[in-house]
Amino acid sequence: MARDVWFETVSIAQQRAKKRLPKSVYSALIAASERGITVGDNVDAFGELGFAPHVIGALEKRDLATTVMGQEISLPVMISPTGVQAVHPDGEVAVARAAAARGTAMGLSSFASKPIEDVIAANPKLFFQVYWLGGRDEIAARIERARAAGAVGIIVTTDWTFSHGRDWGSPKIPQEMDLKTIIKMMPEGLTRPRWMVQWGKTLRPPNLRVPNQGAAGEQGPPFFAAYGQWMTTPPPTWEDIAWVAELWGGPLMLKGIMRLDDAKRAVDAGVSAISVSNHGGNNLDGTPASIRALPVIAEAVGDQVEVLLDGGIRRGSDVVKAVALGARAVMLGRAYLWGLAAEGQPGVENVLDIMRAGIDSALMGLGKASIHDLTPDDVLVPPGFTRTLGAPTT
Ligand SMILES: Cc1cc2nc3c(=O)[nH]c(=O)nc-3n(C[C@H](O)[C@H](O)[C@H](O)COP(=O)(O)O)c2cc1C
Repeated sequence: MARDVWFETVSIAQQRAKKRLPKSVYSALIAASERGITVGDNVDAFGELGFAPHVIGALEKRDLATTVMGQEISLPVMISPTGVQAVHPDGEVAVARAAAARGTAMGLSSFASKPIEDVIAANPKLFFQVYWLGGRDEIAARIERARAAGAVGIIVTTDWTFSHGRDWGSPKIPQEMDLKTIIKMMPEGLTRPRWMVQWGKTLRPPNLRVPNQGAAGEQGPPFFAAYGQWMTTPPPTWEDIAWVAELWGGPLMLKGIMRLDDAKRAVDAGVSAISVSNHGGNNLDGTPASIRALPVIAEAVGDQVEVLLDGGIRRGSDVVKAVALGARAVMLGRAYLWGLAAEGQPGVENVLDIMRAGIDSALMGLGKASIHDLTPDDVLVPPGFTRTLGAPTT
């Protein structure tokens, strides 16, 4: 009998991912930083928000479709860029196929394991994510490669702070998957035979290279070489963001906005979208949940740029809360990575289906015909929930 691969919640996907992945790979995927305050708040904050459902008034059909940066998506959920190499041999190509099958767009990380050309072939609704490493010439070359490959937008992520300590310990990521490393990691791998077999079938271990940091057709530098270059690159300025906007000349998102003043500067720099985000709690621990910062930012700049949110989305009702509080759409990080680890492409599709069903169900309860009809009044926001960061002092 065929194994029943379907899971009903993201939490079950996470449990399965934990069982399937070697400890160090699972731990890389959990990520977070320091005490884990921010990663915890990202999720818990959604639990503080409530709904006030109607008993009569549900509509027969609900409309979930919207657009993000010019792309039609069938639900207000897209794939956030993540760079984790060893979760699944098909990596970002499997994620792209799943997103395409479910009618949504994808952000592809600078540190992805697959070349952008292969990922776009699986899903043309692709936004390439840029980290600020190297000089402007190198960054321009990567953006031009993305343009030539057919990317429909750029996401610039500038909120990384090189915070590496975790109270529960960080996984040891090898420099290279050479024979010596493979032998050393074998005992850990043997505890996860299914994962080993998956990689074994490809006849190559995860190569820990970042193909999108090099030229098309090349295998790209090793992850640690790129990371080292990043650590020694001066962080970008607002002029740099304006420079990217001009160079690219198309849909551009600045990801990682938590403050009102930064949101306004992003508008001035010429971006077309922002994601209210704290990088999934992987950076400056103690930053509040992104959903707490969303309402004020959406209210201030939502008529000038598209405002998205990422961080802590684990169910469809979270998406509805975010949209009601001003997000055009949300981006998923860990949720789809757990789906990918659990079941590959069908696992990512499963996660997107959970989101769709959860959004639909919440809309039904709220008596709404469309995600576009949601307003802050649909959500119970407890006193003191919202945070206003970077408000003008005048
Ligand atoms: C393992 C991991 C790797 C990530 N890599 C990247 C990346 O390469 N680029 C980026 O912009 N964001 C990256 N992120 C952040 C996600 O895009 C997103 O902001 C975050 O995961 C959202 O929070 P969530 O995981 O609670 O959904 C990463 C997140 C995780 C968990």
